[in-house]
Amino acid sequence: MFKNSRDMTAKPLTIVALRDSFGVAVKDLGVFIRDGSGINSKPTEGFEDFNPDHRIFHTQHRDLHLLLSGLSLDEMTSRFVAKYTDKLEKSSEIPKSSNEWAELPDLYSFLRNEMFHAATESLCGEHMFRLSPNFAREFWDFDSKMMTYLRRLPRWMSPKAWRIRDQALASVKRWRKNASENFDSQNEELANAEYEPLWGAKIMRARDVMFIKAELSDDARASIDLGMLWATNANVIPATLWALLNVYLTPGLPARVLAETSSCFDSKTGSFDIATLCSKPLLTSIYHEALRYSVALTIARNPLTPDFKLAGWKMELGSLLISNPWYGGRATDFWNTGRIAASSGQPEHPVDSFWAERFLEYPDDPASGPIRKDDSVYRSAEGKPKTIEDDKRAKVVTAGVQGHFYPYGGGTKICPGRFFAKQEMIAAIAVLMQKFELELVDLDAARKTKPDHAFFPAGALPPDRAVPVKMRRRNL
Ligand code: HEM
Repeated sequence: MFKNSRDMTAKPLTIVALRDSFGVAVKDLGVFIRDGSGINSKPTEGFEDFNPDHRIFHTQHRDLHLLLSGLSLDEMTSRFVAKYTDKLEKSSEIPKSSNEWAELPDLYSFLRNEMFHAATESLCGEHMFRLSPNFAREFWDFDSKMMTYLRRLPRWMSPKAWRIRDQALASVKRWRKNASENFDSQNEELANAEYEPLWGAKIMRARDVMFIKAELSDDARASIDLGMLWATNANVIPATLWALLNVYLTPGLPARVLAETSSCFDSKTGSFDIATLCSKPLLTSIYHEALRYSVALTIARNPLTPDFKLAGWKMELGSLLISNPWYGGRATDFWNTGRIAASSGQPEHPVDSFWAERFLEYPDDPASGPIRKDDSVYRSAEGKPKTIEDDKRAKVVTAGVQGHFYPYGGGTKICPGRFFAKQEMIAAIAVLMQKFELELVDLDAARKTKPDHAFFPAGALPPDRAVPVKMRRRNL
């Protein structure tokens, strides 16, 4: 599916998602349906004279990949880190004194609030929450109804779900109205800025220009921006929860992760270099493992040629191919599941468990690395717990896993937000651990937390229950 990007399109299911998930009306869908010119700069055959302003798939593809990488990415990550750090420092849920513990009912709710605010402000500027103070709640309510929208239940059968989406859309519309009425598009400096407070990141302004040229209605513009906010937040935040929860569920792991993060933070200023942080082996392995463990979304393509073959099977023109990274991520015959535990006779780290070291190769441990080895390797290898010194020598391995591990999809349509997602997740874990001590209130109950399949196959699966935690500020 990914290697043959040129012979594939994702257009039909993109249109379905715009209609069903985000509520784009039929008259606006016409803007997408009429554009058969493809995502590349060169229009497809038969569309050479198609109005360039109406090339919405190409413009969107170009802008997303350009403005979520390079300098724009660096600026967006810096803003996320600054805002997230500020939110944590000012959090009213955790007492200011470092001696006092706060008991929080749910770690996931805490992350959903803090990370969502920071990510949305770094993407959409300063006014979203001023104009719609309940937007975070509205957004997560909307997210929780995603399967209802995808099942196409009509308004009369699911009035609450529709009302919830109406509220979220009204908030996005308010933000858009404020930005377009007050933004001075004649001001060149502002127009070229990576960020300004009304629209936020350059990508959101670029998208507005695209909407205007394509002649989309105000309603459709809000729907598509809600889609952008959903893509930005709905997978990263649950995946971060799995990473953090499993750090604290694994004996000895918080200290090893802190050893990696602390070496990146300047103890005087509290600042850190994101590139150095993202190069740390254990943190990077935890990031990959969180995606392997939780991502269950639908990647769709339709062949554009009449004789398209997939693994020897002929796929008819226009037929629908869907793939979900969940299955490859859980393939028992592919992944390294560690040694056989003497006590249970079972692998120590089955595919449905979280193993922070799964993506690491340790030089003196032949049984390490993500891909399953010959059984004899597990029999002969020693099972010594890893230390901070071992982690320093470990190497992250992703070579060879591509056929089983593709949380971001692949080919030309690969997720344009993957670089931001990685930096955001790793920074969110590191900053939280640097600022707070954290303990799980009930270790046994926390161990029972599993991915919630009610969200399958619409994204990274969230936890199926609340995870109560105790947190207190570190004495820095
Ligand atoms: C762990 C986090 C994330 C995961 C697992 C994820 C996964 C995906 C996948 C599988 C696709 C479809 C790719 C394909 O068809 O091959 C996609 C598309 C997309 N993602 Fe992500 N994503 C994540 C984070 C983000 C973030 C942070 C952003 C924005 C900053 C983002 C923006 C988008 C957009 C806009 C699209 C649609 C692109 C298009 O239509 O061409 N994603 N994502």
